Amino acid sequence: MFDLTPYNTFGLAVQSKDGVVISSLADLKRVQADNVLILGHGSDVLFTDDYNGTVLINQIKSLSVEKDGDKYIVKAGAGIVLDSLIESLISQNIFGLENLSSIPGTVGAAPIQNVGAYGVEIGDVIKEVVTYDLQRHITQTFSKEECEFAYRSSYFKTHKSRPLVITQVVFELSSKFSPKLIYKGLSGESFATASDLRNKIVSLRKEKLPDPSLVGNAGSFFKNPIVDKSVVDALRKKYDSIPVYEAENGLFKLAAGWLIEKAGCKGITHGNVGTWEKQSLVIVNRGNAKPHEVVALAKYIMAEVLNKFNIKLEPEVRTYGSKGEISWDTL
Ligand code: FAD
Ligand code: EPU
Repeated sequence: MFDLTPYNTFGLAVQSKDGVVISSLADLKRVQADNVLILGHGSDVLFTDDYNGTVLINQIKSLSVEKDGDKYIVKAGAGIVLDSLIESLISQNIFGLENLSSIPGTVGAAPIQNVGAYGVEIGDVIKEVVTYDLQRHITQTFSKEECEFAYRSSYFKTHKSRPLVITQVVFELSSKFSPKLIYKGLSGESFATASDLRNKIVSLRKEKLPDPSLVGNAGSFFKNPIVDKSVVDALRKKYDSIPVYEAENGLFKLAAGWLIEKAGCKGITHGNVGTWEKQSLVIVNRGNAKPHEVVALAKYIMAEVLNKFNIKLEPEVRTYGSKGEISWDTL
């Protein structure tokens, strides 16, 4: 058995049948096992049970940087720590990823849910994603358009039938620092250097989010709901301070954290789990939590929000049982 406790930031004591560290494409090509799950740092996963299969731990760390006029093409191995890459690129005056500073996890996982924070999504600066198909044994390069990036989504998240492993992400970055300051907490501020912006993002995140090395969690447990104008109009009549953001295709994004707080679920504790006192969108392990406690609390929160606002929250975390990924409708 392979201990998955260090490979899920919730810190749940779960195991898999086997575990293999993958350091190169050659290692990946040698994988023979069935029921394979690829993990980076496990900072977006919830295991509801021991996993009856082989977990591949991605540590492919190749890196190349090429200058092309005032652009940089950065080809990053999927096992590189995303935040270390961002810090290193800033020190080399290569810009575009500053707002994503301090997001836990690997480069290879980042395109899957198109990680985003503080007004930037990783898909904004991706040129290509390189994958290896574990069934057909072929490598394939996806252009930015083929990745179908959207809010917390991409081709890789919506087409799960193919066992694609992301091996490399190709970024198109800039030699000029042009800060993106559309996030409310950044607008009106000015940043002389990308390091200043990075430091601001790191401190904003420290104020709100628990450090997984101290308090087990997987970041936002739920996605922010996307709704149409009629829902927003009805909510605004009852709650004039409700935060609402414009989304794509004429739709609107609500703040799940606000809904959870207003449904009375901020900072609550149920057994060994709870919601974070400073950000109710984050479910935390208060010590020795069991998977079923996380599931029960998430379901409780979903029921409370549905009851108060008639809005169905959808989990953002990827949830795995003994046989593979589980849909919350079946839990
Ligand atoms: P894992 O959790 O290991 O894997 C996540 C999913 O991707 C799994 O389904 C896994 O099978 C799959 N996967 C992983 N690597 C590969 C690969 N190479 N090829 C194919 N599939 C793969 N997310 C945001 O978007 N914005 C935030 O601001 C943010 N803040 C966070 C704060 C905290 C404290 C925490 C704990 C998490 C936060 N997250 C955030 C979520 C998390 O950081 C991201 O989803 C991150 O990309 C996960 O990386 P990982 O390497 O840990 O992936
Ligand atoms: N809010 C509350 N109560 C709370 C939490 C939030 O009222 O308990 C309100 C805030 O006051 C604000 C609004 O909700 O008006 C939005 O809050 P915040 O700016 O903190 O962002 P978020 O929508 O809660 C999203 C991402 C985070 C990302 C931040 C910053 C999702 C699901 N979450 O959170 O990503 O870091 O924006 O851009 O989109 C993650 O995905 O794991 C994650 C942490």
